[in-house]
Amino acid sequence: MSKKPYYITTPIYYPSAKLHIGNTYTTVAADAVARFKRLTGYDVMFLTGSDEHGQKIQRIAEEKGVTPKAYVDEIVEGIKELWNIMDVKYDKFIRTTDEYHMDSVKAIFKKLYDQGDIYKSSYEGLYCTPCESFWTETQAVDGKCPDCGRPVEKAKEESYFFKMSKYADKLIEYIETHPEFIQPESRKNEMLNNFLKPGLQDLCISRTSFDWGVPVEFDPGHVVYVWIDALSNYITALGAFNNEENLMEKYWPADVHLIGKDILRFHTIYWPIMLMALDLPLPKQVFGHGWLMLEGGKMSKSKGNIVDPVMLVNHFGVDAVRYYLLHEIPFGADGIFSNEIFIKKTNSDLANDLGNLVSRTVTMIDKYFDGHIPAPVIKEAVDDELITLALKTPKLVEEAIDDLRIPQALDHIWALIRRTNKFIDETEPWVLGKDEEKKDRLATVLYNLAEALRFTSVLVSAFLPKTSERINEQLNVDLTTWDSLASFDGTQAGTKVNKTGVIFPRIDVEKKLEELNKIAEEQRLVAQVAQEAVEEVQEMTPIKEEITIDDFEKIDLRVVKVLECEPIKKAKKLLKLKVDLGGEVRQVVSGIACHYKPEELVGKYVVLVANLKPVTLRGELSQGMILAASTNDDSKLFLADPGKLPTGSVVR
Ligand code: MSP
Repeated sequence: MSKKPYYITTPIYYPSAKLHIGNTYTTVAADAVARFKRLTGYDVMFLTGSDEHGQKIQRIAEEKGVTPKAYVDEIVEGIKELWNIMDVKYDKFIRTTDEYHMDSVKAIFKKLYDQGDIYKSSYEGLYCTPCESFWTETQAVDGKCPDCGRPVEKAKEESYFFKMSKYADKLIEYIETHPEFIQPESRKNEMLNNFLKPGLQDLCISRTSFDWGVPVEFDPGHVVYVWIDALSNYITALGAFNNEENLMEKYWPADVHLIGKDILRFHTIYWPIMLMALDLPLPKQVFGHGWLMLEGGKMSKSKGNIVDPVMLVNHFGVDAVRYYLLHEIPFGADGIFSNEIFIKKTNSDLANDLGNLVSRTVTMIDKYFDGHIPAPVIKEAVDDELITLALKTPKLVEEAIDDLRIPQALDHIWALIRRTNKFIDETEPWVLGKDEEKKDRLATVLYNLAEALRFTSVLVSAFLPKTSERINEQLNVDLTTWDSLASFDGTQAGTKVNKTGVIFPRIDVEKKLEELNKIAEEQRLVAQVAQEAVEEVQEMTPIKEEITIDDFEKIDLRVVKVLECEPIKKAKKLLKLKVDLGGEVRQVVSGIACHYKPEELVGKYVVLVANLKPVTLRGELSQGMILAASTNDDSKLFLADPGKLPTGSVVR
């Protein structure tokens, strides 16, 4: 019998920054679901990739002084490496710079144009480059993007527009009659009430102010708007509108697009309308998961509070990180990341509950049965509770995954793990082991433990693949199919166990926390220095016309000491100074009042242009000028410091 297809996608990631623990979530979650579906007998297509075009990427590349292609090539390698480290097993990785994808996007654009869904006009409004999204003046909040809160820019250019409004009613009806389409439910109402029902504007779908994108073939100078390019990936990867192997029939419509809540609007409004216009069925579900936040709010590069998943994997192993991610983002809501909760959870759920269970079981089989799993002999009533729960758990986990309630799926598995631990407490195998007559009962107890662990290993394999492998290694499990969980007898009696060490060593919370906090502090300081450097960058003022040394020699610069200083009434920026020029007292008016208080200046040595023709400023005589360095916008200013040389000394 042929397997049922299952198509799951993640968003394709912008190669704009290092991925952090938050945006790692979508792909790890999709991987767990994809693995689970493979385990339960589906023919899975799990697609991920990179979203490489657009203004944002072009700007970053320009800042770095490389071509956009050279820039994305390098970053995309890093993204793939991260998925490798996170044990993400995708079936296809699509890059929007892949030729087949670009061919499809051109064809899609042309088709929509030919059938009259696209028209040429000009765009005038706001644009958020980090989100690559258009906003109107009324949508922006205090000049900031309503999605990400960063400043928007004005954009005015010739563009093509997509007649979104033509399909709006059809989409509203679809959403209302397909409650499973937008999940969780609360997000559906947000889309309907905030965007669709107030009236949909036509969408600007080409740009002319930069060129890093898919060119519009019939109108050079235009590139396709990056979201139209990006969303198409879900079908171009299956060969739609290109010459690749055509997998559309098998996998389309997708079973689920798993995405973060921030990009729901694009996936539940623009994308379905594109599909309607292309006369293709809509994906069965768009699931907008919550965000992983820090206790103090969002992770942000400039704050330097980004948690690096690779650093965590290096310290705690990949499955500790996967477990935390998969367990800590509740269905539909945001989750919190904190080093402390992470370490404590790893200790309690992984080291204590699961790791210990494996070690104790293998150690007892080693000790009492010379390392061979015994066949069960004497059954007792207490066994039934464990066996019943084990047999019930696969279905509970499957139901949870079908609803994308990933934390609940793990809770069901952990309920079995905890029940198995309780079974050890109830049966006290160490007491049975002391009495030769109770050996038959001990055999059953240890068999049940081994079999419960086989169940656990199969169940956990989609979420924590390495842990599952290690359980299998220690208990020498070879029956790992989903179907084998239909009965509690898959472990072969006589199998030799391998005591290969603890799966999750206990972590010294205090010590590790201190280490992580130190890393975080260093990271924060690096970010602070980087941020300050960004702030310091200013446009270079052009260098003035060349002069000769003789010209320069005409300027007489001298060291002077400030004797007195006072503000000038009604001239907020000016100070009046009396300076000592080698015995002669001069009065100078200087525009430095925003940067120095009079009392700070008295006693200070500064440099005076001593032969400047005197002028009167605000009624006060100024016999020279004091030298200072300042930023272009005058926000920072420092007086030139000649040291405490005798007043009247020459500055050359
Ligand atoms: N390129 C677009 C997607 C185009 S899909 C046709 C994009 N890329 S992204 O790199 O910015 O985001 C990738 C994923 O990471 C999104 O699902 C986003 O919601 C998710 N996350 C980013 N920060 C996150 C957290 N802090 N927590 C959980 N997920 C977060 O958007």
